[in-house]
Amino acid sequence: MAESVFDTFYSKFVETIQDSDLVHFEHELALSLEHHFFASKHGRKDEWDQSIAALPNVKTDNYRFDQGTVKIGDSTELEIGLSEFEDQLKRFMPWRKGPFDLFGSQIDTEWRSDWKWDRIAPHISSLKDRQVLDIGCGNGYHLFRMFGAGAKLALGIDPTLLFFYQFQLLSRFLPALPIHLLPLRGEHLPSFGQFDTVFSLGVLYHRRNPIDHLTELLGFLAPGGEVVLETLIVDGDRSTVLMPTDRYAKMSNVWFLPSTDALVVWMHRAGFKNVRIADINQTSTQEQRTTQWMNFHSLSDFLDPSDHNKTFEGYPAPKRAVIVADKPG
Ligand SMILES: C[S@@+](CC[C@H](N)C(=O)[O-])C[C@H]1O[C@@H](n2cnc3c(N)ncnc32)[C@H](O)[C@@H]1O
Repeated sequence: MAESVFDTFYSKFVETIQDSDLVHFEHELALSLEHHFFASKHGRKDEWDQSIAALPNVKTDNYRFDQGTVKIGDSTELEIGLSEFEDQLKRFMPWRKGPFDLFGSQIDTEWRSDWKWDRIAPHISSLKDRQVLDIGCGNGYHLFRMFGAGAKLALGIDPTLLFFYQFQLLSRFLPALPIHLLPLRGEHLPSFGQFDTVFSLGVLYHRRNPIDHLTELLGFLAPGGEVVLETLIVDGDRSTVLMPTDRYAKMSNVWFLPSTDALVVWMHRAGFKNVRIADINQTSTQEQRTTQWMNFHSLSDFLDPSDHNKTFEGYPAPKRAVIVADKPG
């Protein structure tokens, strides 16, 4: 029976946060994990534990997080052949966020998450020596980029178990770095009040109550800290908010798509100041697509085949805004 990744990750996390301010929240986080995570069952947990245990037992100092492809290790460091290694990695499909180069294996993910980062990075305060939190971080691709941009601590949370396992897979090849992913929801976290930058990328529209989400983000920040929010928007004025009657781009968990003007009102009402729109971009079928590492349907299947400016259901096609704002000091 393989050792459970669940049983080992938290003790490692606790060990590595002893020198950071996060140590004050150790007890609260442990309770939250016990309540929301350890108690939960998942059909593929045992299979993923076994697949993690079967991976090559190699650690590398050869990594780069400051370029589009997050690179970990070199092919010469692997004691097994590349195709055997890739078969092991493919047990953790679908790979949605990336790209990664893992010991020479190019993980071509559904999303070019580096494109999102390139739209965000020029507009935010330097992450050098900052403590950053990424709510809904997926498998942690952007956490690596945040650390690569100088953050002294990059903590992510995401409730999707597969992404937690993908992150464990990637980090097991690395030395102990202050990059962590906890399998929790934003609403399960304490109001830390201490992060210098808080990211929420692609999460707001999944929340039934978006204002609660914004209030939580404010609570995670230190006074004077910066929030970086990326979410789906629609064209319109400050009274425009789209609530899909059912699915949006075939997703059943999309609730509110505001105009940027409405979003600015929401941000101010939630307590942020100096709210600015950094970027607006319509998602392309080059940025989100089916690959050999994510072989399910992707964006082109979610759009109207005769008009890519509309979703399959006839709504405006996915357009995303990056908003940056400050918590009052
Ligand atoms: C569209 S993905 C975005 C992932 C990544 N942030 C990015 O921009 O590439 C949304 C992520 O939010 C996570 N999520 C959904 N509800 C959440 C919640 N209440 N708290 C935290 N994460 C959540 C999902 O598991 C998923 O990984």
